Amino acid sequence: MAMELLRVAVIGAGAAGLCAARHVLSRPERFAPPVVFELTANVGGTWRYQERVGPDVRCSMYKNLRTNLPKEVMMFPDFPFNQQLNSFLSHQDVRRYLEDYCRQYRIRPHIRFHSAVEEVKPAVVTTEDGENRTRTTWEVTACDTSGCRTTATFDAVFVCSGHYSEPNIPSVPGLENFKGQVLHSHTYRSAEPFSSRSVVVLGAKASGIDISLELAKAGAQVTLSHRGPPLVAALPAEIRQSSPPVAVQDDGRICFQDGSVRAADVLLFCTGYNFSFPFLDGGRLGLELEEQLVAPLYRFMMPPAFPSLVFIGLCKSICPFTNFHCQVQFALGALAGSPALPSRAQMAAEARLALQKKADGGAARRHLLVMGGDQWEYLAELAADTGFAPPPPVVRSLFEEVWRQRGLQPDSYRKLNYRLLNDTQWQVVDTA
Ligand SMILES: Cc1cc2nc3c(=O)[nH]c(=O)nc-3n(C[C@H](O)[C@H](O)[C@H](O)COP(=O)(O)OP(=O)(O)OC[C@H]3O[C@@H](n4cnc5c(N)ncnc54)[C@H](O)[C@@H]3O)c2cc1C
Ligand SMILES: *[C@@H]1O[C@H](CO)[C@@H](O)[C@H](O)[C@H]1NC(C)=O
Ligand SMILES: *[C@@H]1O[C@H](CO)[C@@H](O)[C@H](O)[C@H]1NC(C)=O
Ligand SMILES: *[C@@H]1O[C@H](CO)[C@@H](O)[C@H](O)[C@H]1NC(C)=O
Repeated sequence: MAMELLRVAVIGAGAAGLCAARHVLSRPERFAPPVVFELTANVGGTWRYQERVGPDVRCSMYKNLRTNLPKEVMMFPDFPFNQQLNSFLSHQDVRRYLEDYCRQYRIRPHIRFHSAVEEVKPAVVTTEDGENRTRTTWEVTACDTSGCRTTATFDAVFVCSGHYSEPNIPSVPGLENFKGQVLHSHTYRSAEPFSSRSVVVLGAKASGIDISLELAKAGAQVTLSHRGPPLVAALPAEIRQSSPPVAVQDDGRICFQDGSVRAADVLLFCTGYNFSFPFLDGGRLGLELEEQLVAPLYRFMMPPAFPSLVFIGLCKSICPFTNFHCQVQFALGALAGSPALPSRAQMAAEARLALQKKADGGAARRHLLVMGGDQWEYLAELAADTGFAPPPPVVRSLFEEVWRQRGLQPDSYRKLNYRLLNDTQWQVVDTA
């Protein structure tokens, strides 16, 4: 008997959605061509820079952004970047790369542009055969620009809608008293408007540090305010570090945790993003959908009660494209029956245990999806269970080296260029 092809919906045509579509297309014996729903007119997601900001702009890139990973580890493992490019890329380079990927794997004909997914609803049917199995299908409702809604049915849904578009602005008591400008890195595009102004940058992760450096070069007086111990990084003298703000006083000045009080022209929140899945009903799916956490998810991907709903790339502090590449293959394998998934109860127990381990290790609730050093073992397990090649050790080795360099030399680590020699070794090729 011919097997029925599984119908897959993909939400989003950013890097994760393109990766999902490419692997669905590579298995025509098991999967029908995917339907990719994309809100905008283009592929590339956040790598599609837009100068404009506004409630409808999801792009979080800034004009002079360069990647914080070298192309040698940032790439999809099976699709290298252009050999001519330096290791650290502009957002235009990454956008072109994703367009090339889309072309190479002939994904575009399967994308419905200008199509916003509004609702994803499971329909559980029980087949009354000898064993009374249940089968879930998904009703996906999307809306086009003219407001026309259509609903189609799928066997699986890949959620690839990204999670760097909804700013997270932590509450600061008295913020309404602040007399200057308040913004989030989501709407920051370039340093020019801030030259000769005093800017308090909140948060010292990748964007907080990069943006502080840009601002200092443009002649702003920068206070980099963060929770951690003082950074050991070589930062220019124009950047002073401070503790986090505790409140804004009635006179508009900012009080910091160490007791100091300072006036500023601009408060720039580089405090990350909130998850947002307005098309999902967490209660119905047995999921807690919080601003900083989606749980429980088996293998950080699948709700145990509905494993045919797959979240790609939710974890933070990862090597994103490699992660997408591995997660997608595991999930498609599981949908096709190999690897076989454990029972719902086992998946739930495993998902809880994974989070419990992080919590026991001291991670706050909002950091439970931060992977960091755990990502390599995670990817290796996905690969071993599914039967594809895990990322070679050289990826981890160079990723960790660059991470270290970034901590020490945030302003100059991108001057180095790297080359992969083989599966275990890389080398520095020149300094530009
Ligand atoms: C400032 C910044 C710098 C970064 N730097 C790096 C870096 O140097 N290296 C690196 O590897 N990663 C970096 N990243 C991480 C980056 O997010 C990933 O590389 C990757 O682009 C994520 O892809 P995605 O497909 O998950 O999400 P996105 O790129 O956000 O794509 C999601 C897509 O889904 C669409 N969509 C959303 N909702 C809907 C809906 N309801 N219906 C239909 N379509 C929808 C969106 O329009 C979008 O096209 C950076 C991120 C940011 C914000
Ligand atoms: C399957 O369902 C039918 C109807 O609900 C029921 O009569 C039957 O006993 C069930 N069979 C099994 C094996 O559970
Ligand atoms: C984001 O999440 C935080 C909690 O983590 C919440 O306080 C905040 O209101 C959310 N939204 C915005 C826009 O910050
Ligand atoms: C990788 O390349 C280096 C340098 O050429 C060499 O010394 C090493 O043996 C190679 N390792 C493997 C596993 O091929």
